[in-house]
Amino acid sequence: MDKIVISLGGSVLVPDEGDAKYLRKLAWLLIEMSKEFQIYIVCGGGRIARYYISTGRELDFRKEELDNLGIAVTRLNATMLLLALGDDAMPAMPRSEEEAARLIEDGGIIVMGGTTTGHTTDAVAARVAELIKAKRIVNATSVDAAYSADPKEFPDARRYASMTLKQLYDLVDKGVHEAGPSTVFDRLGAEIALRAGIPIYIINGRDLDEMENAIIGKDIKGTIVKG
Ligand code: UTP
Repeated sequence: MDKIVISLGGSVLVPDEGDAKYLRKLAWLLIEMSKEFQIYIVCGGGRIARYYISTGRELDFRKEELDNLGIAVTRLNATMLLLALGDDAMPAMPRSEEEAARLIEDGGIIVMGGTTTGHTTDAVAARVAELIKAKRIVNATSVDAAYSADPKEFPDARRYASMTLKQLYDLVDKGVHEAGPSTVFDRLGAEIALRAGIPIYIINGRDLDEMENAIIGKDIKGTIVKG
């Protein structure tokens, strides 16, 4: 069975826009897809993580403490998805990339959040994908593709139908240094995917037709990053 890792942004999971309805449909799709693919899902923290982190920052918490707040929220979001999946998910949530990789032969959908401080769930997804030799990473985000700049700020930004892993790395690396499109996939995640040679399908995670096509590896409206 091909293995697929999905990096599911918190902005997709719990933006407070019909989330229960979305979760129900997403769970149904993932259960269907899990008959053909071994699926790993890494959940992000979204606005709820940002709330805790900004409040903690006002309280002068250390960077590591802020990251721990973020990780707790990613695991809370993962718990919500686990419950929505019911018996089709592995009941235990892996707390590290290595633990996730060890669950491979057990069947069932694997759902997790963050692992250790200092990175984001995109990097977790890429590391799990590297360890299990995943066929592809699906990056389910709130934007519908990779752009040359933030499309909300720069309406003329170029939208990419496809790009290489090196081009994605350069794009997000530039974003880190110049306040550009750093949000589409995190830099460490892009670096790991590049070294492991694992394609990334960047899609709007709220579009479940896109999600299905990305899992199967068909054409998508978003960006295919490979080569
Ligand atoms: P996210 O993965 O959601 O971060 O984790 P993000 O990319 O900043 O969020 P979006 O995609 O813009 O919504 C939330 C926070 O949790 C901590 C980090 O502080 C991160 O910013 N975190 C998460 C970790 O420290 N380690 C992890 O493995 C995951």
